[in-house]
Amino acid sequence: MTHFGLSISRILPVLLAFLLPVLCALPAHAEDAPHEGESAQILQAFNKQHRETEHAKSITDKDKQRVMFLLGVSLLTLVLITGGLGIAMGLFGKSVFVAHMIFAGLSMTLAVVHAVVALVWFYPF
Ligand code: HEM
Repeated sequence: MTHFGLSISRILPVLLAFLLPVLCALPAHAEDAPHEGESAQILQAFNKQHRETEHAKSITDKDKQRVMFLLGVSLLTLVLITGGLGIAMGLFGKSVFVAHMIFAGLSMTLAVVHAVVALVWFYPF
């Protein structure tokens, strides 16, 4: 055996030191363990509580409508700005083509988001 070699006499105390708390704790927990009917009850109670918290976290229809409304208002604003820039360009000869394109892109993006969110949340009503 070299100086740094691993021998049983070195590993065993370390192993025991790690295992001792586990060995002490296991029988203690075994006594606490619920009996068959009790564990089913505990599971049931846990499931019920889980469902309740999930329900509490879920977004209500009113909140969904509020989000859709805000998306719609933003979309309308962007479309009006895009239109305004288009009119400024077409009727008044202003050079705002790049701005018109940027707002057109934002409008289309928001329109797609608005449509997808509406389908996911409200189809088929
Ligand atoms: C009242 C509303 C609108 C008016 C009067 C209008 C006007 C115009 C005009 C005059 C051009 C030609 C610019 C040029 O060639 O120098 C143009 C181009 C364009 N507009 Fe609008 N626009 C309007 C709304 C929109 C909206 C809502 C979108 C998209 C969401 C849009 C997307 C585009 C695109 C992609 C082009 C480039 C087309 C091309 O050069 O081939 N526009 N628009």
